[in-house]
Amino acid sequence: MSMDMGKGMGKGKGKGMGKKIRFTETVLRDAGQSLIATRMRYDEFETILEALDGVGYYSLECWGGATFDTCLRYLGEDPWERLRNIKKRVKKTPLQMLLRGQNLLGYKHYPDDVVRSFVAKSIDNGIDVIRIFDALNDLRNLEVSVSETVRRQGIAQVAVSYTTSPVHTLENYAKLARDIESLGASSLCIKDMAGVMSPAECYELVRAIKENSKLPLHVHTHSTTGLAFMTYLKAAEAGADVIDTALSSFSGGTSQPATETLSYALGQMGFDTGLDASALKTCNDFFKPLRDQYIKSGQMDALVMGTDADALNYQIPGGMLSNLVAQLKAQNALDRFPAVLEETPRVRKDLGYPPLVTPMSQMVGVQAVSNVMVGDRYKNVSKEVRSYLRGEYGAAPAPVDSDVLKKALGDEKSITGRFADTLPPGMEAGKAEAGPLAESTEDVLSYIIFPAVAAKFFQQREEKRACRVKYSIVQLENGKE
Ligand code: CO
Repeated sequence: MSMDMGKGMGKGKGKGMGKKIRFTETVLRDAGQSLIATRMRYDEFETILEALDGVGYYSLECWGGATFDTCLRYLGEDPWERLRNIKKRVKKTPLQMLLRGQNLLGYKHYPDDVVRSFVAKSIDNGIDVIRIFDALNDLRNLEVSVSETVRRQGIAQVAVSYTTSPVHTLENYAKLARDIESLGASSLCIKDMAGVMSPAECYELVRAIKENSKLPLHVHTHSTTGLAFMTYLKAAEAGADVIDTALSSFSGGTSQPATETLSYALGQMGFDTGLDASALKTCNDFFKPLRDQYIKSGQMDALVMGTDADALNYQIPGGMLSNLVAQLKAQNALDRFPAVLEETPRVRKDLGYPPLVTPMSQMVGVQAVSNVMVGDRYKNVSKEVRSYLRGEYGAAPAPVDSDVLKKALGDEKSITGRFADTLPPGMEAGKAEAGPLAESTEDVLSYIIFPAVAAKFFQQREEKRACRVKYSIVQLENGKE
């Protein structure tokens, strides 16, 4: 590669040299999830959707992740209806969602018929790109959602959960990329949920994957540790095809780096971003007062907006660090924090180096705190860690420590097969259990994933309707209609 950095600087003839790099906008999903716990209502952003559609993004990430749960639980919105409404207004730009493979948008494994139905309905209601990942990068947890997405003519993007460990070598990542291509995925993504991937690591990883797979490669990171702008720059130089960014007013901190800034910088280096700068400004001007409102109400906390480099020292994601602090505070044992910081990587090693992403980050954190507080390591083992050790979440990236296995499971045997194969079909049973208030397959799916929350939502929907009927009868009687 040429190191002639000065040539053509600022004239659009730098390292990009006309190469395309495209953007996925995250303001409607990951940015909001990272900064304001996914509390943005549909009516707050409805009027900017047409403008977002005109920016020139590769895709608009707007659904999945925590949005589904939050819509039902806190916002009184039907997530499916939100998706249809977005689709009505965003006609050109592909809509993208995040799916946790066999866990869908919940926290446990669902039967294959439920997974297939969920994927089909997501596409029916307007999703074009489904980004699918598994916490352990166990492809058996992705195969059904990938094949169903492809069958329904959606784009099945498999995201690799990024982490570092002795077994997470470039060689192993390259093999994973080849396996993902063989699985039939449409594209690949490196998903660095904690923002700990350095520019140098990213450059090498993108190169290694590009040498081993022909699939388009996306890179996803967060600004948490301050690395993200540099990481994306190196991603672009190494040949990544798409990066994930957020409009500047909802960028930075635990969110993605700013769309406008990266478009500006990469454009000047000669990359063709395809983004319309004035359309970007229109969109950001819309979101700025919204952001200010969230700051004023305290929903957007200064803590999530800054840069926190601690995660780099401990190799523990920022969200997990604050969780460990909270656990120790609750036990009035904050003085044990240094011990827990030492114990956490040991637990991760014992468990076979799982990436520290939901739900593994919680499991490893709780176990580390327990090991330190009890004094006797693995004397207490949570239900979740036990089922992880039984193989119910999939295969650990490296072998689990045999002493830990013995201590936690005794003579109980672990499964080596695919856990979902042990589950009976779920759609019919879910439908029966959801009852008459579930009016569609979409409702049944909402119910299967979040039973209590969905049941309450259906009930409230019914009450609202009854109210409306009553109101129009009164109006009719008053001769107003
Ligand atoms: Co993310």
